[in-house]
Amino acid sequence: MPKVMNVVGARPQFVKAGPVSRALVAAGLDEILVNTGQHYDDLMSDAIMKDVGLREPDVDLGVGSGSHGHQTAAMLRKLEDVMVERGPDAVLTYGDTNSTIAGALAATKLGILTAHVEAGLRSFNRAMPEELNRIATDHLSDLLLAPTKNAMDHLRSEGLESRSRLTGDVMVDALMSIDLARVATQPWADSSVYVATIHRPSNTDDPIRLSAVLNAFGRLDKPVHLLAHPRLQQRLSDFETPTPESVVLHEPLPYSSMLRAVLDSDGLLTDSGGLQKEAFILGKKCTTIRSETEWPETLVGGWNAVAGDRLDVLGDLVLRATTPVEDDPFGRGDAGEWIAREIVDLLR
Ligand code: UD1
Repeated sequence: MPKVMNVVGARPQFVKAGPVSRALVAAGLDEILVNTGQHYDDLMSDAIMKDVGLREPDVDLGVGSGSHGHQTAAMLRKLEDVMVERGPDAVLTYGDTNSTIAGALAATKLGILTAHVEAGLRSFNRAMPEELNRIATDHLSDLLLAPTKNAMDHLRSEGLESRSRLTGDVMVDALMSIDLARVATQPWADSSVYVATIHRPSNTDDPIRLSAVLNAFGRLDKPVHLLAHPRLQQRLSDFETPTPESVVLHEPLPYSSMLRAVLDSDGLLTDSGGLQKEAFILGKKCTTIRSETEWPETLVGGWNAVAGDRLDVLGDLVLRATTPVEDDPFGRGDAGEWIAREIVDLLR
């Protein structure tokens, strides 16, 4: 039976790998699940894996935090060892984190076939570590599994068309696997609120920008419930940044509770890529606290708006009107099966 290694490590990868892992096993492949340990807090890893139905990893590399070079290098060394030991016929990587680039680099240097799930996304902002990870992983990998037509266009324009396949987005599969009616609401969901998440270095690592974002949240017409990623929690305490009274901090939520919180809210404020799409699919308005988005499909009908530096007019931006959208640009929730079929083909 051909062996396929899934490399995950950070919160969004546990979500993306769930549907693919199940589809690979259903397609008769022998799956080896490796967790680099990039995210190690229970709320960022184990709790998410359980929530999305990802099985327990076969190998845990326990790499943890570090600067980009240190973290990626530690993963690369350990991944090479585990790939040599386990001898997978193919390796799958997900998204754009340091775990993604480390997995792709380790595998391709060993001559193992490599596939990249969520290929072809571009923010065209090379100051983002994720943009560099995506570009490098796409150019290294043998098979590029693109979630959207826009992603396919980017791959084509970089000369990668022959290795690219449009599969739809596995995050739709993940979302559709959750019965939101059965997920408990947050205690604050009864009132009219916004929910928010902030974790990108461009928002968290400069004390002036971080204060500006929080103060802009504080000026909105409703309270903002901010689900704080460890990076944000750390920076808030390092910089001793005060939080406006109407901005309420919480621990990160499990995947299904986060979806439910978005659904129950009056809108989302985020710098996350995945949540922009989840809001779009759930029919909730999102305001993106960044200068660009990798998901231009969400901008249609006003469902997403990129705030950039327009924090002084965030209030008006958040209150903008939307129009209904018929299209399902992210696919119908069968991307996991598509991907499994492509992997079977690749191994033929
Ligand atoms: C990473 C990804 C980003 C993704 C995000 C999702 C890269 C370059 N970035 O960013 O693309 O959107 O994950 O969450 O790979 N920390 C903890 N506990 C944890 C995890 C992190 O305390 O479980 C702290 C550490 O101090 C760490 C910092 O948060 O230094 C940042 O973590 P890191 O994995 O470097 O990047 P993220 O900001 O999480």
